[in-house]
Amino acid sequence: MAFVALVTSEAYPNLYEDDLLLVRALDELGIESRPAVWSDAGVDWLSFDALVIRTPWDYFIRLREFRAWLDARITSGVRMCNSSDVLAWNFDKRYLQDLAVAGVSVIPTIVVSRGASPDIVARARARGWNDIVVKPTISGGGYCTHRFRLDDADTYRDDIARILEDRDLLIQPFLPEIMSQGELSLLFFDGVFSHAVCKRPKQGDYRVQFQYGGTTESADVRDEWIADARACLFAAPSLPSYARVDGVTCDGGFVLMELEVFEPLMFLAQHPAAPARFAKAIQRALAVGS
Ligand SMILES: Nc1ncnc2c1ncn2[C@@H]1O[C@H](COP(=O)(O)OP(=O)(O)O)[C@@H](O)[C@H]1O
Ligand SMILES: [Mg+2]
Repeated sequence: MAFVALVTSEAYPNLYEDDLLLVRALDELGIESRPAVWSDAGVDWLSFDALVIRTPWDYFIRLREFRAWLDARITSGVRMCNSSDVLAWNFDKRYLQDLAVAGVSVIPTIVVSRGASPDIVARARARGWNDIVVKPTISGGGYCTHRFRLDDADTYRDDIARILEDRDLLIQPFLPEIMSQGELSLLFFDGVFSHAVCKRPKQGDYRVQFQYGGTTESADVRDEWIADARACLFAAPSLPSYARVDGVTCDGGFVLMELEVFEPLMFLAQHPAAPARFAKAIQRALAVGS
């Protein structure tokens, strides 16, 4: 019987509720799974047939510690799902630049390297942006993400300097559609579209995450958006077993916010077939090369 770890964090020792549907679906395929907290030194990671990264949602806070953990797992040769090449590439939002080069419609993005002291106002103004978002290249759940008008940039100077002491930063124009239309998440298993949801911020906010009061509902999406989202998957180092493609629709087109193939919430509860599709994708990953 295959045995997989669902990698999680101290805050979610019994997983996030959505993944309990995955546990049941794996069980139905005869795959035993167990939540395993990445920072628990007592876990024997090599005792599993695969590690499925699910809810280590403190990784961007305990960044160096987590990166050392991840690198050690990759070096150990234990099977990772998604695969280690996909994980390593998707860890840092600099991958957005690779996707832009591959022809994906990405939110225009300036990357500022750690340690730099850029004139953010001048750089944004040069691109014609007045309302911007700054966020670390390694982050999740809206961590250290700020939106402001250039006239208010002084208020954020210290926050930005603090981020840049520690990690790289992205500057993007603020897309107001996030507030009017919400953010679409398209969910894929082995490159096959499964379902879609629309995430909306609470009144007055622009962050769609549940941590900030955002809400989620099922969404119908156009075929061309599915095709655009799917194209991102084929620009990854290898095809992800599971993927979430987040974007905003602007003038009828799909613009990528984020390709989440590291630890995406998959919104399994939003589609009755989704848990079984996820479990089958893991089953296929277990079969590769064995
Ligand atoms: N350029 C942007 N325009 C509008 N909203 C944005 C922009 N960038 C980020 N956001 C908001 O902040 C949230 C977090 O940003 P995101 O890039 O998805 O990083 P993460 O989810 O990894 O924290 C998004 O879901 C969205 O609500
Ligand atoms: Mg996001």
